[in-house]
Amino acid sequence: MKKIALGADHGGYELKCAIMDHLIAAGYEVRDYGTNSCESVDYAPIAAQAARGVVSGECDLGILCCGTGIGISMAANKVKGIRAACCSDYFSAKYTRLHNDANILCMGGRVVGVGLALELVDVFLNTEFEGGRHQRRVDQITAIEDGTL
Ligand code: RB5
Repeated sequence: MKKIALGADHGGYELKCAIMDHLIAAGYEVRDYGTNSCESVDYAPIAAQAARGVVSGECDLGILCCGTGIGISMAANKVKGIRAACCSDYFSAKYTRLHNDANILCMGGRVVGVGLALELVDVFLNTEFEGGRHQRRVDQITAIEDGTL
């Protein structure tokens, strides 16, 4: 069973709680990187810690939430090896696994309702990367990180 890194700032805290309950009920192991209240907190340090939990291999995939999902995805994407996708629709959450091999799903607690968010979580976690021509494109993203592209 997959282990999932979870993180949020105050704008995504309530959504993170709902996702955690959902994942635990489904039998996933969860590593919670905070935050643990609605008190205002910066999203970048939480994104960095959760992202490192994914690239280190401690966690298989990650889910991060802030108000929009954007700031926390920008921060997570600064960690080498992270492909974080901010999604608010089912198609994108599915295809970012199929085509981009995204390893973190980001969502906005002020953008998506809990019902939709849990659908996005489920399709993200249950969809495998297609590889093939998409592997070349993902490798090119890595080459940008390495400075060879
Ligand atoms: C916090 O107010 C908000 O800016 C943050 O949660 C997020 O939306 C940033 O991208």
